[in-house]
Formats: sequence, C-alpha cells, structure tokens
Amino acid sequence: MAYFGALFITTEVLERQNLVFHVAKVSLVMNEFDSDQDRVAQLRVQIAAHNEAYHGRDEPTVPDAVYDQLLRELAEIEQRRPDLLTAESPTQLVGSAPNEIFAPVEHKVPMMSLDNAMDLDELASWHERVLKGIEGAASCEFVCELKFDGLAVSIRYEDGELVQAATRGNGRVGEDVTHNVLTIENIPHRIPDAPKVLEVRGEVYLPISGFELLNEQQLANGEPLFANPRNTAAGSLRQKDATVTANRKLAFWCYQLGEIIGGPQMSSSIETFELLKSLGLPVNPEVTQFSDFAEVQRFCESWMSKRHDPDYEIDGVVVKIADLAQREALGSTSRAPRWAIAFKFPPEEKLTRLVAIDVSIGRTGRATPFAVLDPVFVGGSTVGMATLHNEDQVASKDVRPGDMVVVRKAGDVIPEVVGPSLSDRSADSKPWVFPSVCPSCQLPLERLEGDANTYCVNRKCPARIETGISHFASRNAMDIEGLGERTVRGLVEQGMVNDVGDLFALTKPQLMELLVSDSSNETLVNNLISAINGARERPLANVLIGLGIEHLGPSAAELIARRFRNIDNIVRAETGDVEAIDGIGPVIAQSIRQFFDDEHNKSVVEKFRLNGVRLDITEEEIHAPQVLDGRSVVVTGSLDGWFVSRDEAKRLIIDRGGKSPGSVSKSTYALVVGSEAGQSKLDKASDLGIPVVGEAELRHLLETGELP
Ligand code: IVH
Repeated sequence: MAYFGALFITTEVLERQNLVFHVAKVSLVMNEFDSDQDRVAQLRVQIAAHNEAYHGRDEPTVPDAVYDQLLRELAEIEQRRPDLLTAESPTQLVGSAPNEIFAPVEHKVPMMSLDNAMDLDELASWHERVLKGIEGAASCEFVCELKFDGLAVSIRYEDGELVQAATRGNGRVGEDVTHNVLTIENIPHRIPDAPKVLEVRGEVYLPISGFELLNEQQLANGEPLFANPRNTAAGSLRQKDATVTANRKLAFWCYQLGEIIGGPQMSSSIETFELLKSLGLPVNPEVTQFSDFAEVQRFCESWMSKRHDPDYEIDGVVVKIADLAQREALGSTSRAPRWAIAFKFPPEEKLTRLVAIDVSIGRTGRATPFAVLDPVFVGGSTVGMATLHNEDQVASKDVRPGDMVVVRKAGDVIPEVVGPSLSDRSADSKPWVFPSVCPSCQLPLERLEGDANTYCVNRKCPARIETGISHFASRNAMDIEGLGERTVRGLVEQGMVNDVGDLFALTKPQLMELLVSDSSNETLVNNLISAINGARERPLANVLIGLGIEHLGPSAAELIARRFRNIDNIVRAETGDVEAIDGIGPVIAQSIRQFFDDEHNKSVVEKFRLNGVRLDITEEEIHAPQVLDGRSVVVTGSLDGWFVSRDEAKRLIIDRGGKSPGSVSKSTYALVVGSEAGQSKLDKASDLGIPVVGEAELRHLLETGELP
C-alpha cells in the first residue's frame, strides 16, 4: 500500500510522456524563429535566470545538460552572427553575480569555466582543434583529471598565511568565504615554504560518506534531508555562521594556480601539481599524464564505469594540455580556456538488487508491476522502487526477483530499471510470472487480447476503492489533508466508505470510533472533518479530476468546467459537445460520456449533491482576466516555490484564457521549467525555438500575458 502514492505520479508522468510522443509524431516542425536576434535575447534571459538559481541560490532549476544546451545554442548563434556578440553575453561570463551577503572579492586572475564534450566524438573534435592551434609543435602531452562535482574556490596565501578564500562568482568577482574555508580540515592555514603570493584553485566538495552521515543526523533530528552532496557543499560553504560549515566535513581538491609571485618557474602542469603536493595541499591521486590521445579516450571511458568508486561525486573528466607554453599559445575565449575540455559523463546508472516484483492496483483496476529495489542513490536522489509498466515490459527486460539490475533516472526524473546484470544472476533464477489473482481482493486478474495492461475488474476491490479515495483526496484534486493511506484503509475495511461520495457523509462519531484510541486524538478527527468540509467548496474542475475519469487531466477538466458551468450539463453532454471545445480530443470526450453513462458514477454525483459539495463554477472563476487568451504555455518539472504545484500553475494559465497542454508544439508560447524537468520537452522546445522560462517569468506571464 505504501507504494500507491509514487505509482500515481509515475503513471501520470508516463501518460504525459505518451502524449509527448504522440504529438511529436504529428508536428515535427523545423525551427521557425523570427530572427537570431530574438532568440539570442531569449537565451540570454533564460541562461541568466539559471545562473542565478545555480550559482546565486545553490538551487538549480534545470539539469546541467539543459543548461549546457542553452549555452551552446547561444554560442553557436554568436559564432554565426558575431554582430550579436556582446561582452555581457553569458557565453563571455562565468557563473552569476556575487551574492550581497558576502563581501565581494576581485579575482586578480579571472576564474574561468570549461567547455564541455558530451561524448567521445566531441572530445575528438576538441583534440583536432587543439592540434591545429599548436601546429608545428613536436609533441603534445595531456593531463587527465577527474571533474569534481562541487564548488570552485580560490584560496590566497600571502607570506605563507591563508588570507582570503573566495568563490568563483561571475569569474571576475567572487564572494569572500574565508571564515568558512578555514574550517575545512585538509586546507592548511599556514604554508611555511609557500611563494610570496600563492593563489590555489580547486573544488570544495562534500564526501559521499559525510553527506550520508549528515542526512542520518537530519533524520534523527526530524529535519528535512539534503538532496545531494553538491548542493549541500555549496550551501555549507555559503553559511554566515562558520560553525555550521565546520560541522559539514567539507574537503578540497586543488587543480590550478591563480596569481603566483615568487616560487620556482614551472613549465608543465605536472610540475605545478608536484609543487602543490610538496606544499601540503590536497592533490587528487588520479591525475595522470598521457602522450597518446587514445589513452586519454580510454581514461575517460574507464572513469565512466568507475565513476561511483570514489567517496566524492564526479561528473566527468577534465582533459588539459600539459605544457604551459602550449596553453599560452592556445589561449582562451573570455569564458573558457581552449587548452582544456570537460568530458561529461552520460546520465548516471547504478546497480542494485531487485528485491521483488510486486503489483499495485490503481483506481481503474489496472495492475501495474513495479520493482522493489534495495534503495540506491542515483541521479541525485535515493530510489527504492520503479515502475515496470506491464507484463510485456517485464518479459522483454527479463528482470527477475533477486537479480542485480541497472537503475537510472529517465529524463532525470523518473526512476527506471534498465535491465539485469546477467553475470550476477544466480543459476536457479526463474522468469517472473504475472500473478493470476489480484493481490488485494484475490479475484482473477484479466488481460484482454491486444491490450498491454492487466486489470482487476472487481469494482468492489478494496485496493481500487482505496486508490480511488486517495486520488480524490490528493492535493491536485480535492486536497483533503489528513486523509492518509491508513485512514483510507480503515474507512474501507470498516465499510464506512464504499466510494468517494460517502466521504462527505462521514460523521464525527464514526471517525472517533475509527481513529481515536485516546482522547488526545480528537484534534485529528476535528482537523479531518474541517478538511472534508473545506473540500465541499473546491472548484468544479477539481471535482472532475477527483472522480478519476480516465484520460482527464487538470487542464482538460478546467476547460470542460468553464464550458459547461455545472455538473448536470457535463453529465448530459454529448460526446460531440465536449469534443467541440478547443483543446479537448475525442478520447477525453468519449471517456467522459462513458463515465457518466455508468449508473454507479452518477450515484456518486448524487451523493455529492446531497452532502453539499459545490458542483458549479463561480462568477469569479469565470471572470479571471483573460490575458493569456489563445496562448499555449506548457509547464514541466516540479513547481514548488511560489506555485503550489505544476497543476496549480496550469489551472492559473487556463483561468486566464490560456491552454496548458502536456507537450510542446510549434504553437507553444513558452515552456515553463521547474526543478527536475524532463529532457524531452526541453529538447523539443529548443528544436522549435520556444522560449524556456522559470517560475518568476510565469508569474509575470500570468499578470501581463507577456514574457518579461
Ligand atoms: S579546471 C580554467 N579542473 O568544473 C579551467 N575544473 O565546469 C578551470 N571542476 O569551474 C577549471 N573539477 O569548478 C578544473 N579537475 C578540474 C575540475 C574543475 C571540477 C569544475 C570547476 C570549473 C567547472 C567547469
């Protein structure tokens, strides 16, 4: 039962993905951007917003790959149209403006960023460019380093004394974090033999073991868990109170020099590393020099499979030209050196044990197999289960209970079991067999010919009723707080609730009997009663969503509520009337008709009416300013800042006359991206030249109908 919440989400996301696929097939339209100038302006706004979120607030709003893609697109246009290039363009800058809480520190030598190679072909192209750049040189040596996923800092020693430490900031000006850096154990405060001025640059990171320990402490103290080591490291370093930083057990790897006055002359980066090591600074042991580029490629490949071996997170390999004179000859753009490249790893995958394959029963009776996994940290969060969709998927992946399986995050959001590790499979393992009876009501499951799904067709199946009620009470539907899984199960087991209509007839004595073991729990009951009372006033669209009509999402529900104004009109509506609404297709129209042709469903509506649930739309809901009339705004990822949820945002768009479909097309006005957004919509938006914006821009859009 504990799994139902997650499977709701999964199914919903997957349904949306199918929609994306469907739309993608019919509307593959080429980039129709009015002008490069417009696109450049849009890209700069988006990149600046992402920079601010990532560097300024340590709260990235899009995956790195998406950010990289935007930056590349901008760089490509600027290369083609040098007239559009300005010194302020994000391609010419690094990071974000420094935060005001910390004193600004001007970097004497700018702290640059790195260009990325997303695969071995791009790495080979970089190699070719480098060879052209140093034409005539007898040989070319490479240094390979791990790319640490932390926070870049520059630490300044004067006469051997640590005098200042600063973040990268925008590359020219960073933030003074000296007091915090002084708490990091492997950074010396004094280096007796240091050159007169020595600026050491590198990455501050939180070891994975330290991250896990920290989260154990958070759990024990009932505090929220940290999402991943990188953000925790960044947040820890940017604390006003250094004692907080000291508790976080941060560490440092150095990889470069900034300003240096005095000290020995160096001609290669290996000499630099030797100097840093001899001064007692932490140099990563994996730094390796190669003269053959094939070895560089092998190093990158081998670290792709070993990426989880170290006790710190890495997201790639940095390949640099070793010879300092050659570096000089190659030079830099204003943002990144030409003599280095970051080879980025593809989305991460991890091996874990498939403990069991269980089946959950949804409110429509669909039986969905899902993997119960040994919890594993992958792609920034811990994964304990993943949907396996249906019987055929399990068979085609041939995953079996007891297998070691590869797990990854599809589109950076949804956990996915990729397949088994056959070499780890035990000799007596057997293919998994789909159960023949429902795990909840024990009646036979049915799979019709030509249908990929298996169903429990028993209307009275407790699991179906329970998931139906949980869905009805969920935040995106009727938002009844306090109606948790255990309570729902109790209500169904005791026969107090047989469908969602019965919820509004529950009495205080009934709930007291079910929930109260001692008198102090009476508050629980009172709270639940007022939550149920509050739900009587939810908008009509929420009632429609709560009923669980197949294929009906929030934006369609809103359109239908607006068009028909009350439930009776909807119950009576012909398929053609529903389909006539712009934005509603035949599948939804038929599903609504079918739903209300069912006498049981109509009886649920009557129970609502009898118990005072509002079943029409208010004047206020009808008259929201229609600033988005005819505009289509797609929302993806989780919005959890200003907006209650993504669906809340969609509702607001629709309230203002706009549309908010589940997929991007050429008619999309803007794509709003929350955290952990899926890749496919971003790719599509980028292909079609659709502006990609964040929550702040959405607020502006809702107020004015225009992008800022
Ligand atoms: S060298 C001028 N080496 O990656 C080149 N950077 O995406 C400066 N990073 O800003 C960077 N590991 O924060 C270098 N071994 C490594 C690195 C590394 C991680 C970070 C660094 C940089 C960012 C660029």
